[in-house]
Amino acid sequence: MTTITNIEDLRVLAKRRVPKMFYDYVDSGSWTESTYRANESDFQKIKLVQKVARNMENRRLERNLLGISMSMPLSIAPTGLVGMVHPDGEILAARAAARFGIRYTLSTMSIASLEDIKNEVGEPFWFQLYVMRDRDFMQRLIDRAKRAGCDALVITLDLQMIGQRHKDLKNGLSVPPKPTLRNWLNLLTKQRWCWNMLKTKRRQFGNIVGHVEGIDDPSSLASWTNQQFDPTLNWDDIAWIKEMWGGKIILKGILDAEDAKLAHQVGADAIVVSNHGGRQLDGALSSIAVLPSIVEALAGTSTEIILDSGIRSGQDLLKAVALGANAGMIGRAYLYGLGAMGEEGVTKALELIRNEFETSMAFCGETDVDHVGRHILVPSTIPDPFR
Ligand code: GLV
Repeated sequence: MTTITNIEDLRVLAKRRVPKMFYDYVDSGSWTESTYRANESDFQKIKLVQKVARNMENRRLERNLLGISMSMPLSIAPTGLVGMVHPDGEILAARAAARFGIRYTLSTMSIASLEDIKNEVGEPFWFQLYVMRDRDFMQRLIDRAKRAGCDALVITLDLQMIGQRHKDLKNGLSVPPKPTLRNWLNLLTKQRWCWNMLKTKRRQFGNIVGHVEGIDDPSSLASWTNQQFDPTLNWDDIAWIKEMWGGKIILKGILDAEDAKLAHQVGADAIVVSNHGGRQLDGALSSIAVLPSIVEALAGTSTEIILDSGIRSGQDLLKAVALGANAGMIGRAYLYGLGAMGEEGVTKALELIRNEFETSMAFCGETDVDHVGRHILVPSTIPDPFR
């Protein structure tokens, strides 16, 4: 097996080991995938300033986010169907994150349930909530998240409708899998995945199945979205959810400076600048491109900023922090690790990103993450898409 030295190695291995329909689910954007691609390529356009002959010893990456001490400025993004990428995937990823000293976010559309993470991992995590028509169910989910020890609620604002992803439609993506003939043949080549899937009992949407009456077929994200996600969601709903939750809230999916200000006004403790990994509005700007305008809009407020969509390396994360993000969030980067090697692969992804971040920070002449700022970036390469 190749020695794993970067996230791309994990992606290649994940592609070999994860059934095609679930690998494709992770690795696709909506429509032409232009935003999905821009999320990565826009990071490459930003250049770092190298400094030499500085003392590089005693580097420090710890950061306080929402009053929680993290071993580095990173958390794991909510992603759906993780337990299909790797059997029991949510538990494995949450365990790796907890051991690493960062927060894992469990998606509403996860395979393992809130209770599974509480019982199997036993460390605090974040819970991601979709706003649904069935407010009683939402209330019950929020209560379950409190009981499971979640210390922040991540409310996703950019998925009341689902962006079309061609591959998912062609693969007939569903949970548990209802593969096309071609996907059946593909499944037969994934013996490790099949074996682990046979061993686990977690093959349904654990937060939903058995907890909602009258849901006929929550087997696909698309059908559940169409039935349940509330298209009337608006800023007034946030105050209601915040009150019901009574703890920290993080609003995810902000891509506009005016929206960032509204998020602050409704009491967001943090926002996630995100275009949902390029999976929703194709043609939207990359997250890193809009970050500077959002940092400016929230200057002087207490609302913290997390940057999601496109981080595939420690250098990417360093650039986001230099532009003013309090932290980053990774989705695909950890899912590749998970699909490739389970918990060990998630740990590997986190270690790679930490080492790349730490080394690059030092090359830029800084040893303390709290001293990283715009001065480590070449000014003419800082994105300003509204110029
Ligand atoms: C869900 O969050 C998705 O992007 O599929």
